[in-house]
Amino acid sequence: WAIHAPYVRAINQLKKDRNAVVLAHNYMTPQIYHGIADVVGDSLQLAIRATEVEAQVIVQCGVHFMAETSKILNPAKTVLMPDMQAGCSLAESITADGIAQMRARYPGAPVVSYVNTTAEVKAASDICCTSANAAQIVAAMEGDTVIMTPDKWLAQNVARQVPQKRVVWWDGACIVHEQFTAQDLRDFRDWNPGLKIIAHPECPPEVVAEADFAGSTSGIQSWVEREMPRQVMLVTECSMASNISDSLPDVEFLGPCNMCPYMQKITLEKVLWSLHSMTGAVEVDPAVAEPARRAVQRMIDLSQ
Ligand code: 13P
Ligand code: SF4
Repeated sequence: WAIHAPYVRAINQLKKDRNAVVLAHNYMTPQIYHGIADVVGDSLQLAIRATEVEAQVIVQCGVHFMAETSKILNPAKTVLMPDMQAGCSLAESITADGIAQMRARYPGAPVVSYVNTTAEVKAASDICCTSANAAQIVAAMEGDTVIMTPDKWLAQNVARQVPQKRVVWWDGACIVHEQFTAQDLRDFRDWNPGLKIIAHPECPPEVVAEADFAGSTSGIQSWVEREMPRQVMLVTECSMASNISDSLPDVEFLGPCNMCPYMQKITLEKVLWSLHSMTGAVEVDPAVAEPARRAVQRMIDLSQ
């Protein structure tokens, strides 16, 4: 922490000077999560909080689609992205043309797109979802068939939770969560009797089936805080365990460490530079932003 302290102090001072707030995803490094964030949360919580920001500047500590979502929901604000290269394998796996292909293949079926998509893809979709509300959103759609893009594993996990719908999916995956295998989870259980295993629904279904609980990053945090297991393995990006373990000294966190290379692009140095220079503002074409906002807002309305 000593080497980070000058950055943390400088950023917290600049936030006041620039009338800025930092929205940080649960996968940010502990120095961002604990040192400079004003709001932390999962994708759904960050989207909702973006609508409530009164400060003039939002610094999005997360990946690019999250900054776009904040800009779409609160267009009068300056939304700064400390590194424009902080993408997402899911967001990169589909374009608006892919949505059109799915609509042509399944005529009349509603398109539910994960928030891990570009503004263009959101604009071409009927509604968005996050890992916190995907089953609820799919269940609320009209008709028998629902198209889910772009995460095939989230879609297959939702299909199990919502058997009354025929869920069809795009072939995208998260490069962090697809690395976990069901055998990894069984091995950790064998080595640590009594271990609780919590998975993110971006993991393949056979991995989720081995877990005691699956949920969004904030759902995972709430589960651990409520159940207080002696030993737990979080089958998700490993900054998550680092961020919540400080306040849970009686819980031992075990497991492999898979880091998201996109999330890790956001560093204190880059946050400091973006606030100092006021560079890296995210813009969304209003013709795209309006239909994208409708898809995100519809999701927020349905999940409240
Ligand atoms: P949630 O925080 O919404 O669960 O999403 C995880 C994720 O991978 C975001 O990129
Ligand atoms: Fe995308 Fe996966 Fe990284 Fe989340 S963890 S930003 S879904 S690549």
